[in-house]
Amino acid sequence: MTVLVTGGAGFIGANLVRSLLARGHDVRVLDDLSTGRLDNLDGLSVDVVEGSITDPDAVAAAAADVSAIVHLAARGSVPRSVADPVGAHTANATGTLLVLEAARASRAHVVFSSSSSVYGVNTALPKREEMWTQPMSPYGASKLAAESYVMSYRSAYGLEAIALRFFNVYGPLQRPDHDYAAAIPRFAWRALAGEPLVVHGDGEQTRDFTHVDAVVAVTMSALERRLSWDRPVNLAFGERTRVLDVVEEIGRQLGRDLDVVHEAPRPGDVRDSQNDPTLLRELFPEVSPVPFRDGIASVLDWMRRA
Ligand SMILES: NC(=O)c1ccc[n+]([C@@H]2O[C@H](COP(=O)([O-])OP(=O)(O)OC[C@H]3O[C@@H](n4cnc5c(N)ncnc54)[C@H](O)[C@@H]3O)[C@@H](O)[C@H]2O)c1
Repeated sequence: MTVLVTGGAGFIGANLVRSLLARGHDVRVLDDLSTGRLDNLDGLSVDVVEGSITDPDAVAAAAADVSAIVHLAARGSVPRSVADPVGAHTANATGTLLVLEAARASRAHVVFSSSSSVYGVNTALPKREEMWTQPMSPYGASKLAAESYVMSYRSAYGLEAIALRFFNVYGPLQRPDHDYAAAIPRFAWRALAGEPLVVHGDGEQTRDFTHVDAVVAVTMSALERRLSWDRPVNLAFGERTRVLDVVEEIGRQLGRDLDVVHEAPRPGDVRDSQNDPTLLRELFPEVSPVPFRDGIASVLDWMRRA
């Protein structure tokens, strides 16, 4: 089938594109290259359209003849959304609405990347899909708005769609070198360079880290079965890892203790995050998590080669 991947030059997108091509699908990418990079797609047989999901004509043209859309394009950072809430809303909420309009016109199946940040101030753990949502950052609010639009298009127009709430995704191709980079690539990068690791807060905060291979496998399964679901589905396997455990594991794999510098917590970040994977396992019984040690090894290997 022909699949449009919005944000396909980014971290998760470029991993997904590789998998789609390996399974014989035709792939088109729509990306404004704001955080993604063309060299993530080097040597791959993909049709890359440089443009924004906030441009209705660009989205409509890119989606014209596709049978499915994986909608990943977004401004993905919590602190960046706190600094620029209107920019986050425009890309993440309005951009999603425009992608849905294009999907409605082409009758495409939609797989949408929402986020665990929709739960926000709700501290109950582990997270189940029916728990109340109340974002604590503009990023989380924009993702909640976007997944609500996805669900409303299922009801109002019969659009076939599923919204997956990603938790903390990590793996090869995730950039370590920008202001809003995620913890695992930042730590791995600095550890390999022999520099101290910067931990925001005390490092006791926890995350349900999910390797990108598992995210790609779930997305692929949803796509190939044209799976449509009437509520958002959490995508993480229920492990709770402290930020300091990440530091320890990287040190263990490099065979040395790592220096850590603590800085102020980042605005908008939740303290703890963990999924209850019951629904995920029901819908995707064939997908297994990548063990954390193997996942960290994959990041270090990729960075050594990059
Ligand atoms: N990485 C995670 O831990 C995580 C967690 C929850 C949700 N998500 C969601 O998964 C999706 C992919 O995230 P990622 O980690 O690969 O981030 P990323 O920044 O690497 O990828 C996002 C891609 O979207 C592109 N993009 C941004 N704004 C755009 C616009 N207006 N028009 C077209 N392209 C645009 C960027 O250039 C980039 O290639 C995002 O929607 C993100 O919110 C990611």
